[in-house]
Amino acid sequence: MKPKILVTRAIFPETIERLSQHCEIDYNDRDAALPADQLAARLSDKVGAITLLSDRIDATALAGASGLKAVCNVAVGYNNFDLAAITQAGVMATNTPGVLNDTTADTAWALLLATARRIVSADKWVRAGQWQGWKFHDDWFGNDVHHATLGILGMGRIGQAVARRAAGFDMRVIYHNRSPLPADIEQACKATRVDKEALLRESDFLVLLLPYSPAAHHTIGAAELAQMKPSAHLINIARGGIVDDSALIEALRQKRIAGAGLDVFENEPALDPRYFALDNVVLTPHIGSSTRATRLAMAMLAADNLIAALAGKRPPNLLNPDVLPA
Ligand code: DGY
Repeated sequence: MKPKILVTRAIFPETIERLSQHCEIDYNDRDAALPADQLAARLSDKVGAITLLSDRIDATALAGASGLKAVCNVAVGYNNFDLAAITQAGVMATNTPGVLNDTTADTAWALLLATARRIVSADKWVRAGQWQGWKFHDDWFGNDVHHATLGILGMGRIGQAVARRAAGFDMRVIYHNRSPLPADIEQACKATRVDKEALLRESDFLVLLLPYSPAAHHTIGAAELAQMKPSAHLINIARGGIVDDSALIEALRQKRIAGAGLDVFENEPALDPRYFALDNVVLTPHIGSSTRATRLAMAMLAADNLIAALAGKRPPNLLNPDVLPA
């Protein structure tokens, strides 16, 4: 008999095919999150689960799932997991690092360039038929990206991929992490570590790549925005909640910073509607890793994690090694 698993929402046929070689699958094939009570009910007779960011896996979800061995998230971020509760329940938790670095770094750059050069507003203006002829002193002056200072808060693997791309723009790259990166990685990224205050003060483009945790809540609020240059742009490709959206909206409204490119929001998808009235912000719907190839690689990696865990092996991306016997 194959072990029973839950796949909580629609993923790829290729991944289902691979999982079905090892498991009997209870598949929610709709691309919509299961309500919390259904999630808990459908987990209760399973030994494993493939989960998505929209699934809250906590003590309530796990309460009836005494046979569960592993929950495998199709995401690098796992703020949908209550890791302490999962560990307490003796369940392995995994994520999908690595395979989405380049795609997410590309998205960070797309947002950076779009906000610097006002691409989205300009496109809307042209489509609205407002362009009456070329002007030298037009209303579309943007800010230069080349030779500017790129700041990265949270210089993990995606941050490093963002930094490496800056070489083509002849940028100075600074970053802040709690601990410095090894010298060879700093060199490969041509990046210098600075303290958080210098990062805020000196960045022309500040890219946020911190993982979300309660300690990272509102890392960027009114006080931090006040330290940034009036010509600076903020890019958030990490998680909602790292930025205080109200403070950012106020800073953008008063032009205390020049612009922002945002892929993630507090309470997404219920965005603060005040964003919609601002033309100095570019908004995307949490698409950092969204290419088919990358989402497939993420789903396959989650499947590999689950298959390993159910075979009694250590899954490659185990987040809570404490659950394994010593
Ligand atoms: C992640 O992997 O954490 C992304 O936000 C999902 O696309």
